[in-house]
Amino acid sequence: MRSSRNKTIDIDEISGAEYLSRCIRWDRDDAPDDVTDSLITGDSFEVMKRLPRGIADLVIADPPYNLDKDFNGRGFKRSSDEDYAGYTGEWISLVLPLLKKTGSLYVCCDWRSGSVIYEVLKKHLKVRNRITWQREKGRGAKSNWKNSMEDIYFATVSDEYTFNLDAVKQRRKVVAPYRKDGKPKDWEETEDGRFRNTHPSNFWDDISVPYWSMKENTAHPTQKPEKLMAKLILASSDPGDLVFDPFAGSGSSLVAAKKLGRHYAGIEQNEKYCIWAEKRLEMADSDSTIQGYADGVFWERNSAPVRR
Ligand SMILES: C[S@@+](CC[C@H](N)C(=O)[O-])C[C@H]1O[C@@H](n2cnc3c(N)ncnc32)[C@H](O)[C@@H]1O
Repeated sequence: MRSSRNKTIDIDEISGAEYLSRCIRWDRDDAPDDVTDSLITGDSFEVMKRLPRGIADLVIADPPYNLDKDFNGRGFKRSSDEDYAGYTGEWISLVLPLLKKTGSLYVCCDWRSGSVIYEVLKKHLKVRNRITWQREKGRGAKSNWKNSMEDIYFATVSDEYTFNLDAVKQRRKVVAPYRKDGKPKDWEETEDGRFRNTHPSNFWDDISVPYWSMKENTAHPTQKPEKLMAKLILASSDPGDLVFDPFAGSGSSLVAAKKLGRHYAGIEQNEKYCIWAEKRLEMADSDSTIQGYADGVFWERNSAPVRR
């Protein structure tokens, strides 16, 4: 019996047939001229070759890390750093023609795949930063340190790119409220408490992995939180821009893009994950809230008020 608080989306291929029919089936349909606001079911390495050039303002890529991982029956096998570099180089060279000259690319990784990804990225793009995300849950280990960090590389095509600093401020609780002349110094008194809105750094400790009682949660094994995607999208795109994700999974980047008034396009090889992504995109029509993001700021873990 599933708890009534368990919101996990886990629709199978039979009951999800209608959701799947909303996707573009690359192996069956003719290549459409316009893929705006679409999820494509197919192999990214084939599909990207035939997508219109220069469509994306922002690419968010969350490729399989260099680990043994089962994506609903399709396994990713850990390989040598050299082979993983070849794999990374191949998808990056397919993504680049899709990016605008003013575009940005974020690539998610862990400590091992990150060292390889950085070497490949810097050959093609201007690498600007590496964000470290402290996941709340770690991957356990008996004879090693628990892996509870992930990285996200930030790169741009050129020196002309979008970065909306004010859109990604972090709201922190004020522990020692300092006053000058009786007035709050750099903090504000609100009905939710005393807060300071700070500039975001490249260390993110305010975002949990999706868990079973969250509306966004699916049974995808490596789902990213909408809050994390929202930070990347708000910083590096403007409303109306197009966000492209070549490894869309359960659709977190596409859903966050839609909720934030951006266009999206994504590719995912696994039909079950496409069904979950389409279900989430439908849910976004009636609920555009993003857990942890409210009043135009990102709140510390488990502190954001629920706004409708
Ligand atoms: C790390 S997961 C992405 C998770 C996603 N960010 C989310 O929030 O759900 C990588 C995804 O890439 C998909 N994938 C792997 N190789 C692919 C390929 N060649 N073409 C399309 N999708 C692929 C996997 O099925 C998996 O869902």
